[in-house]
Amino acid sequence: MSLFITFEGGEGCGKSFQAEALHGRLCQEGIPSILTHEPGGTPLGNELCRILKWNENLDITPMAELLLFNASRSQLVDKVIKFNLEQGKVVICDRFTDSTYVYQGYGRGLDKELIRNINDIATQGLRPDLTILLDLPVEMGFARRNNNLQDRFEKVEMTFHERVHQGYLELAAEQPERFLVINANQTKAKIADLIWRKVNELLHLRA
Ligand code: TMP
Repeated sequence: MSLFITFEGGEGCGKSFQAEALHGRLCQEGIPSILTHEPGGTPLGNELCRILKWNENLDITPMAELLLFNASRSQLVDKVIKFNLEQGKVVICDRFTDSTYVYQGYGRGLDKELIRNINDIATQGLRPDLTILLDLPVEMGFARRNNNLQDRFEKVEMTFHERVHQGYLELAAEQPERFLVINANQTKAKIADLIWRKVNELLHLRA
């Protein structure tokens, strides 16, 4: 049965590791699933990802940024996510619409209602069944990152990332039925276990 699960969180929270771990666990259990990510996950999306994360020379405005993330999303929903959900698979997506809501809304200061509308156009109204938010204080997330290469977002001032963090917590509080908030300052194994319990519960409910 299909299930759409997204992972969210600030820089260095460990969501990509946990998304891969969940995908690995589902494969082990013989449950058909795919793992994808935003921005990217399609040839067009990967090009947009390169521009959005790494191109310093384009002076991208917040509105253009919002539209480019959603162009990548529209392509991903149409070409990958919907198709796999229709096949009855579990689709795991590393970041989705909530990233836009908090990074471009709380972070860049764009109007949140406008973001919701544009997100809805890109997703054709598709919403995650479960969103796992890995919650970590901003400084802790940045301290964990061991790469010298910082992308366009990692270079933005700390107050931006504080607003993003706050945005995630507010969003999760508004929609507790969709969000599973996990303290990301625990062992990877413990976090993976909490995630698996929740996903397993949902899978049984839908069986
Ligand atoms: P990451 O997946 O390695 O964290 O990189 C993606 C970066 O892009 C991250 O800093 C969050 C940012 N982002 C947005 O600002 N808006 C979005 O809609 C998405 C999907 C990501």
